[in-house]
Amino acid sequence: MFTTGAARGQGRSHAVRLAREGADVIAVDLCDQIGTVPYPMATPDDLVETVRQVEALGRRVVATQTDVRDGAAVQRALDDGVAQLGRLDIVLANAGVTSYSPAEELSEQMWDDVIDTCLSGVFRTARAAIPHLKANPDGGAMVLTSSTEGLKANQHMAHYTAAKHGVVGLTKVLALELAPHGIRVNSVHPTSVDTGMIHNEATYALFRPDLEPGEATRDDVGDPFQGLNTLPVRWVEPADITDAIVWLVSDAARYVTGIQLPVDAGATTQ
Ligand SMILES: NC(=O)c1ccc[n+]([C@@H]2O[C@H](COP(=O)([O-])OP(=O)(O)OC[C@H]3O[C@@H](n4cnc5c(N)ncnc54)[C@H](O)[C@@H]3O)[C@@H](O)[C@H]2O)c1
Repeated sequence: MFTTGAARGQGRSHAVRLAREGADVIAVDLCDQIGTVPYPMATPDDLVETVRQVEALGRRVVATQTDVRDGAAVQRALDDGVAQLGRLDIVLANAGVTSYSPAEELSEQMWDDVIDTCLSGVFRTARAAIPHLKANPDGGAMVLTSSTEGLKANQHMAHYTAAKHGVVGLTKVLALELAPHGIRVNSVHPTSVDTGMIHNEATYALFRPDLEPGEATRDDVGDPFQGLNTLPVRWVEPADITDAIVWLVSDAARYVTGIQLPVDAGATTQ
């Protein structure tokens, strides 16, 4: 399996769980900071920890610091990984970033960084994988990580909402084009997930503008009584998204392609 954004959060959860299910892993992550992202991103040590956890399960892993904003680098990392591991069946385009601003004040750089990672990076991941999946007699499965923001709007996230909606269109086109090759393509749409993307001061400030900057804590964000989720949970766990992905890539979902699967505690029903 191949996953982007593998150093921590959902990407690590996907890599480790699929390793437990028997997959060898091609893991890529930027492991660096993007200037407009207002929270600490993953580090090289995070990627080392993912590698450690996969290897502890007795699976092989090829991990590189690779930026999904660089199409040639993504292609190289994947081709090298497949050359070492032998074949590719499962592709998870998971890497993503966000930042927050009203659309009127959204800078070109903020827009570009989010679109380049969350939409174009997903495209580059899928494009690099297609020849490898086509080479399998029994095809394969891709899951593109979108968000509830791929199905509904969120203020101060015009770029992220546009990118995640774009992932839906990309999913559908890929599902059409690749169906004849037995390759299924679906998207997942998480609500808030307990990762570094939401647990940071910038995100707390967005969700709790009523509190002084720096005053909000983990306990203040995503309160179900603010109505973000329908089920009474503040956020879901990375493992909840992984569970949905494990099903989507399995034979149990062999006739499921082109769908948008929310794992959102009912957030998009509102
Ligand atoms: N956390 C949430 O609440 C939430 C909700 C809905 C959707 N998502 C989406 O889920 C996916 C995973 O996010 P997460 O929650 O694990 O957050 P995270 O910040 O913990 O993990 C994201 C990973 O992607 C990597 N990454 C970012 N830009 C990259 C690039 N240009 N090239 C390669 N790697 C890059 C980061 O280094 C990081 O390891 C993202 O696409 C995100 O948009 C997250």
